[in-house]
Amino acid sequence: MDEWIYPIFVTEGEKKKEVIPSMPGIHRFSKDRIAEEIEECLEAGIHKFMLFGVTDQKSENAWDAYREDGLVQETIRMLKNKYDSQILLATDVCLCEYTESGHCGIVDEKGTVLNDETLPVLQKIAVSHARAGADIVAPSDMMDGRVGAIRDALDENGFSDVSILSYSVKYASNLYGPFREAANSSPSFGDRKSYQMDYRNRSEAVVEAQADVEEGADMLMVKPAGMYLDIIRELKDRFHIPIAAYQVSGEYAMLANGIKQGLVSEAVVEESLLAIRRAGASVIVTYFAKQLAQKYKEEFHAI
Ligand code: PBG
Ligand code: ZN
Repeated sequence: MDEWIYPIFVTEGEKKKEVIPSMPGIHRFSKDRIAEEIEECLEAGIHKFMLFGVTDQKSENAWDAYREDGLVQETIRMLKNKYDSQILLATDVCLCEYTESGHCGIVDEKGTVLNDETLPVLQKIAVSHARAGADIVAPSDMMDGRVGAIRDALDENGFSDVSILSYSVKYASNLYGPFREAANSSPSFGDRKSYQMDYRNRSEAVVEAQADVEEGADMLMVKPAGMYLDIIRELKDRFHIPIAAYQVSGEYAMLANGIKQGLVSEAVVEESLLAIRRAGASVIVTYFAKQLAQKYKEEFHAI
């Protein structure tokens, strides 16, 4: 349980707790209601979170992603004021929730995603999160050279204690649909195959991870998790920093809806997480964190 990170979606407005239809049990909260969810988690024993911003404020250069008074920045500040070191806060560093194109980087007029033009934006996002109080920044954009760029920017601004959880191996998977619906971040044209990895490819995963280690990543992440256990194991055996895995929205949606419809037993959740851990992940980002922790707590009380 200690190794689980629970994703949280924060959205604009007030008094909101919105259902995400494909992900039973998962909601989008407005900033004023997010503490409800955090309290439930703390109560159940979950204290690590990954924060995602969901907004209609979209622009060509994603500038809402790094405003000091942006949605995510204000939420981090509020949570850190309230819970301080009781919680560990990781934040998603990416552009797709903030670009008109819905792509994870800056695009030119032809629709090409521009790697090098995106790096300074990622630096600004990461620094703005660190300034607001984030413990960990998690770049999910997949531009080349981003880990080094973010590390430099954090260090220059006095945040050498903020860690980087890098999505080192992020496949252009078919399992992200429910998230894009939840985060309002689908690409408006094309796909993410120019920057995410081809899932047929195994050796490239090692090369990408190696680059991230050299650039200063503190933790490497494989995403999705359940279909890529071989990649998790491969990184675990080769690198000597913690390996994380993200059990993504599509994995969650299939399991959670399967359970809901009585097609598979609830125990499949633990089976899936056990397999990911056995493959070598010491940190697991999972939408099941709260539910499962609550279940364990009930069982404990029943003894
Ligand atoms: C976007 C991002 C995605 C996820 C996390 N960050 C989706 C994507 O790449 O389109 C997926 C998470 C999930 O499916 O749960 N940078
Ligand atoms: Zn993105």
